Amino acid sequence: MTPVQAFSAGVVAVLAAGLAFRRRPRVHVPLMLSAFALDLGSVLYLQVQRSAVQKAAGSPTPMLLVHIAFALASLALYTAMTVTGVRLLRTGQGRPAHKALAKAFLLCRTGTLVTSFGVV
Ligand code: HEM
Repeated sequence: MTPVQAFSAGVVAVLAAGLAFRRRPRVHVPLMLSAFALDLGSVLYLQVQRSAVQKAAGSPTPMLLVHIAFALASLALYTAMTVTGVRLLRTGQGRPAHKALAKAFLLCRTGTLVTSFGVV
């Protein structure tokens, strides 16, 4: 396991903790927003230190393409989780959407971690 994979597994652990506290917004929201910030940090790190986008644009393997698809979907879904989560906090509305998006998000985010083992 590389240091970046260990970091990514740590973020998944933060998400799992946030999920366990899904009925307690005061704990749930800071954990989920921290996970978002940590994941954005690792995207920046991979770009600055490893030129990730240039490498992916070269001749990507099918596994790398799947990994990138999961990673991009995770980032988009983080945004959707934040938008629906803020709405839920402010108005109490949109719980089914937040819950449905959470399933897709968790699939994509764990998919990103699992497929990362096939691209190093
Ligand atoms: C990024 C990943 C996130 C995931 C996977 C996630 C997942 C969930 C899940 C599964 C629930 C329970 C829904 C239900 O059973 O009805 C929930 C509740 C909630 N989430 Fe999130 N969430 C995330 C981020 C956020 C963010 C960023 C916010 C706010 C900015 C937020 C605000 C809330 C609120 C207010 C509730 C309702 C809590 C209550 O029961 O009072 N969530 N979330």
